[in-house]
Amino acid sequence: MAPQDPLAENNGYTLDSQGPDSFPLGMKIPSTVKVRRPSAADLAPQSPILAESLAKSPVDRVFWRKRSLHRLFSLGNIKSEQELDEHARTQIVEDSIYVMRMNDFGGYTVPAQGLYPFQWNWDSAIVSAGWAVFDEARAWEELEKLFSGQWEDGMVPSIVFHRPSNTYFPGPDIWGTPQKPSKSTGITQPPVAALSVRFLYEHTENPELAEQKLVSLFPKLLAWHRWWYKARDPENTGVVAILHPWESGMDNSPAWDESMKFPIDKLPRYVRCDLNHVDSCMRPTQETYDRYLTLLHRFKAANFYDPSRLYWISPFRVTDLCVNSILIRANRDLRWLALRLEKDDIVKEIDEWLNKGFEGFKQLWDEDSGLFKCKDQLTGKLANAPISAAFLPLFAGVATKEQADKLTHNLERWLGQVNYGVPSMDPEDHRFEPLRYWRGPVWIIMNWMISNGLRHYGYDELADRIKDDSISLTTKAGLREYFDPLTGDGAGGRNFSWTAAMCLAWLDRPAAIAIGHKMSGPKKHLNA
Ligand code: DGY
Repeated sequence: MAPQDPLAENNGYTLDSQGPDSFPLGMKIPSTVKVRRPSAADLAPQSPILAESLAKSPVDRVFWRKRSLHRLFSLGNIKSEQELDEHARTQIVEDSIYVMRMNDFGGYTVPAQGLYPFQWNWDSAIVSAGWAVFDEARAWEELEKLFSGQWEDGMVPSIVFHRPSNTYFPGPDIWGTPQKPSKSTGITQPPVAALSVRFLYEHTENPELAEQKLVSLFPKLLAWHRWWYKARDPENTGVVAILHPWESGMDNSPAWDESMKFPIDKLPRYVRCDLNHVDSCMRPTQETYDRYLTLLHRFKAANFYDPSRLYWISPFRVTDLCVNSILIRANRDLRWLALRLEKDDIVKEIDEWLNKGFEGFKQLWDEDSGLFKCKDQLTGKLANAPISAAFLPLFAGVATKEQADKLTHNLERWLGQVNYGVPSMDPEDHRFEPLRYWRGPVWIIMNWMISNGLRHYGYDELADRIKDDSISLTTKAGLREYFDPLTGDGAGGRNFSWTAAMCLAWLDRPAAIAIGHKMSGPKKHLNA
C-alpha cells in the first residue's frame, strides 16, 4: 500500500488533488450574464494566419468533436451532446485556444504580447495545463522550455529571455545575469510546475509520452524544490523566504507595504514600459517601481548569483503565503510523482518538507482576524494586510478545520461586499483599490486555487460561487489579466494566456475537450 500523505490526518485533505475540479463543474453559465462575442479583430488583428487556420478543415472538426464527445460521454460526466451544447461557452473556448496560439512564441507562451514578451515562470506552468486540453505534446514542451532556463543550483528564474524584445523593462541587460544557461532574471517565482506535471500526467492521452516526460522532468523539479529549502530557508524554519515582490507574483500587494520601506537608492535613469500597454491606475506606482529597481541593483552589486549571500543581505525578506502555499501543494504533487517512480528515499525527503512546512505555517496564523498573514522575516511581524492569499493554505491543505471555518467566515464577508469574487484584498480595508493590480482586482488563477482548496475542505457552495463568478467575469469581460470585483470590467493586459488556460483547464474543461481538438493541427509559431 502506498504511504499516506503525512498531512492528511491533520486537516482532512486527501491526495486526490486534481479530482473534484477536473470535470463538469464549470458548465453552468449564470443566467444573468450576457455572452459577449468578441470579433476576430478584437482578438488578434495581427494574426491572419491563425484566423485562416481556424476557418479551415471543417471535416477534421466534425471528426474531432465526435471523438472527444465520445470520450466525455464514456467518462459519464455528460449525458448528451445537447446538454453540452446548452451549457458550453463555445466562443470563449475558441477564443482561449486562439489566444494561446497567438501568444505561442515557439515552445513557450508569452503571458501577453507587448506587456510581457518573454517566458514567465508561473504563467507558463499554468498555461501548460491549458495546452494539455488540446495539444498535449505542446503542453510538455512549455515545461521543458521553462526548465531549459534552470540554473545549475536548481533555481528556475522568474523570466527566461529567450529572445530580445524592446517592449518590456527591465530586460536582460539590466539584470546582467551570466547566461546560465539562458539569459534570465536572477530571482524566481511561485513553484507551480510540479502541479502541472502531475496534471498533465494524470490527464494524459499518451501514457508513453507522459512517462518519458515525467522521467526527464522529475529530477529538475526536485532540484528546484531542494533549492527553495537550501537557499531560502537556511535557518530551517519550515517556510521559505522571498527576497523581491516579483518573486511572489503579487508584485504590489499591500502585504509588502511595510517591508518595502527601505530607502530608495540613487538609480540609473530608467523608463518603464508597462505604462505603454496598461493605464497607470491599474499598475504599481512609480515609487513602488523605484523600490523594485533598488532591490535589483543591490542584488546585482552583491553578486546576486550567490543565493547563500542574497538571503542575508536583502533589505526585503518576507514569508509569502502564495509562494509557501504553492510550494506545499507542489511538494504533495512531487511526492505523488515520486511514488509513481518508486523513489522511496525522495518520498521521505518530501515528507520532511511537508511536516516542517505544517509547523512553519503555524506562525502565519493570526487568530484575531481569523486569517493567515504574510510575515516580515527581518522584523518578525505579521503583515497587517488581509489579502486573498490568506485563503491559499486551504489549497496547500495546511489549515486546520477550525482555521478553515474562520477563513470561510471572512471569505463570505468579503464576497458580500463585491459583485464578483475573490478580490485580492479585503474590500472593507482602506487600501482596497478595485483596479490596481494586486490591491483589489480578481485574478482567475487565485480563484482556481481558492476554490480548489475550499472544495477539499468540503465548502462546496463557496467553491461553486467562486467558480460561477469566474465564469461570469470571463464571459462578460473576456480573457483579461484581472477584473474589477465591483463592476466586473476587465483590467490590465488583454488576450492573457493564463486566463485563457484557466478557461480551458478549469472553467470550461468539458467543452474545451470537445471542441479543442478541432482547433489543433500543425503548430503555428506566430511572430517566430
Ligand atoms: C513584472 O511586471 O515584470 C512582473 O514580473 C510581473 O509579475
